[in-house]
Amino acid sequence: MNSFEQNRQSWNELTSLHTESGFYDVESFKKGKTSLNHIELEELGDIKGKKIFHLQCHFGMDTLSFARLGAEVVGVDISDTSIKKAKELSEELDIPARFIRSNVYDIENVLNETFDIVYTSYGAINWLDDLDKWAKIINRYLKPGGMFYMVEFHPFIYTLNNDAEITDSYFNTKPLETAVESSYTDNSEVSGKNLKHIEWQHSLSEVMNSLISNGMKIEFLNEFPYQVYNCFPNLVEIKKDKWVFEKHRDKIPYMYSVKARKI
Ligand SMILES: C[S@@+](CC[C@H](N)C(=O)[O-])C[C@H]1O[C@@H](n2cnc3c(N)ncnc32)[C@H](O)[C@@H]1O
Repeated sequence: MNSFEQNRQSWNELTSLHTESGFYDVESFKKGKTSLNHIELEELGDIKGKKIFHLQCHFGMDTLSFARLGAEVVGVDISDTSIKKAKELSEELDIPARFIRSNVYDIENVLNETFDIVYTSYGAINWLDDLDKWAKIINRYLKPGGMFYMVEFHPFIYTLNNDAEITDSYFNTKPLETAVESSYTDNSEVSGKNLKHIEWQHSLSEVMNSLISNGMKIEFLNEFPYQVYNCFPNLVEIKKDKWVFEKHRDKIPYMYSVKARKI
């Protein structure tokens, strides 16, 4: 079984847990709460009337949050369960959106149009092995002058073990294979299914250079001294929705964001 197929199966399993988890809090979302964080809301600016393509949209809450703000949205995800749930939410809440089940790398087989904004966030690019191919897809789906925006976990975080000690190389390029035993949402267990995750680490320079060499002009790169989610072991909350390792506090980068424009 190839890496993407392994990830599709494990994400199918995890999504079923996520839709029930306090972490994703679908009930509050249904009542109107946005699932977007202050960072992307502020950095994206007004998206009303914009056509947005959301790469790796999971079960669609962020995509639908953009639609609630007046955007026309399309989300793509490899997980069948994610796309099924996203479509259910769209229908139940009567929020217009299109959701497509596809590997990001195969999307050109099923989608032929262009967008004002291509968007991806928190825990997405680590599922992709080839960022040059990824950046070509971003360029392909943007209108001339269109915006690419991403907010991601900082690659420095991947050097740390569960005790926040540096144990791994920042420059690792080999696939990282882990057994999926629990979810980051609330440690709920995924036992006895022999599921695996295959991930790839991408340094900041790799991300930036893949965008630059594929026709994108970088407008900003920001780094953040906190994490908006309590999604790594042993984080402490220093302010509302600002999580850090006790050991390093705000001395290290936890997330970064990039805004780029198709030239
Ligand atoms: C951590 S989630 C991203 C969450 C995102 N911030 C959100 O909630 O909108 C990662 C998602 O990437 C999807 N994914 C992983 N590999 C993919 C691929 N090759 N193509 C498309 N989606 C993929 C998974 O199915 C999962 O839904």
